[in-house]
Amino acid sequence: MPSPNLESPLDYLSPDAHLAGAAAQEHAELDAGLRARHACISPKFLYDPLGSRLFEAICELPEYYPTRTEAAIFARHGAEIASTIGTGATLIDLGAGNCAKAASLFPLLRPAQYVPVDISADFLQDAVARLRLRFGHIEMNAVGMDFSTSSWQLPEFVRSGRRLFFYPGSSIGNFAPDEARAFLRRVHAQCGEDGGILIGIDLAKPAAVLDPAYDDALGVTAAFNLNVLRHVNRLLDADFDIRAWRHRGFYNEAEGRVEMHLEAARTQQVSWRGGSRRFEAGEWIHTENSYKYRRGDAIRLLEESGFATSAVWTDPQGWFAVIHARARPAH
Ligand code: AVJ
Repeated sequence: MPSPNLESPLDYLSPDAHLAGAAAQEHAELDAGLRARHACISPKFLYDPLGSRLFEAICELPEYYPTRTEAAIFARHGAEIASTIGTGATLIDLGAGNCAKAASLFPLLRPAQYVPVDISADFLQDAVARLRLRFGHIEMNAVGMDFSTSSWQLPEFVRSGRRLFFYPGSSIGNFAPDEARAFLRRVHAQCGEDGGILIGIDLAKPAAVLDPAYDDALGVTAAFNLNVLRHVNRLLDADFDIRAWRHRGFYNEAEGRVEMHLEAARTQQVSWRGGSRRFEAGEWIHTENSYKYRRGDAIRLLEESGFATSAVWTDPQGWFAVIHARARPAH
C-alpha cells in the first residue's frame, strides 16, 4: 500500500481503479457489454468528472426527490439517528462523491476517522481537499476504489474500532437484489465488532413520481446518461456519436426498478479499440437499474446479509427510508 501522500489528499488508490491493470479490466468489461446481444454499459461509467457534476445537478432538480427527501429525514431525525448510532465511530462513506451528505452529519456523529470511498478518484480528491479546510480536527483518509467488484477490501489504515458504513442516496438500488446481498455481506464482513451500516433506500412508489425523476424536463438526466458515451469514447477510443442516441428513463414496475437506456436514433456502426458493432435504429444500450424496495423487503435484505435493523426513519409520504442496522456476530 502506498504511504499517505502529503501533497495529495487521496490516501489510497486501488490499482484496479486506475492506470494500466485497471484500464485492461475496464476495457474487457466494457467490450463484453458492448458485444452482448442486449448491449449494456455498467452505471459506474456514468461517473467521470463531468458525470459526477451532472449527478450533483440531478440532485437539485425538482423532479428528483430522493436527495431532498433523504436530507429532510436526516434534518428531522438527526438527533435520534445520532443517539441510536453513537459518536466516535470510524465513518466509511461508500460512494462519497462530493462528501456533502457525510459532512452534514459530522456535527451529530462526530466521527473519529472519516474514510470517503469513491470510484471517481479525481472528483473525490478535490472534495476532500475542501473538506479538510472545514474540518481540520477529523482524521480523513480518502480512498479511490471501485467497490462494485466482488473482492473490494478497505486499506489497512482504516481503523478497526467501531466502524459505521454510510451508504446513502439509495446507491444500493444499482445492484440487483442478489448482488445487493453479496455486497452487504462484504460490508458486514468488514464491520468488525459493534459495527453497522446507515443506509438510504428508495421505496417503491407510483410511476407518476418515478418517471419524471429519471426523465426530467430540463434534460439533465438525459445529459448524465448520454455522457456515459463520451466517457466510453475516451476509455476505449470509441466513436459513439452522441447526437445519434436518445435518453430513456422509466419505471419498470414488474421488475421493481427504474431503468435507464440509450436508444439509437438511427442505424449506425460504432468502433472501439478491439471491436465494432452495428446498432439498428431503435436498439437500446442498458446503462442503469435503480431498484426500489418495499420497506419490509429492505429490512429483509439487511437481515439476509448479516445485519439486524435497529431503526427505520422515513418521510411523511413514505417515499424513502434511512435504516440503521447492526452487524450480527458471524457465529
Ligand atoms: C446514485 C444510483 C442512487 O439511481 O437514483 C439518478 C443515479 N440515475 N438519476 C439513482 C441516478 C439517474 C442514482 N443513484
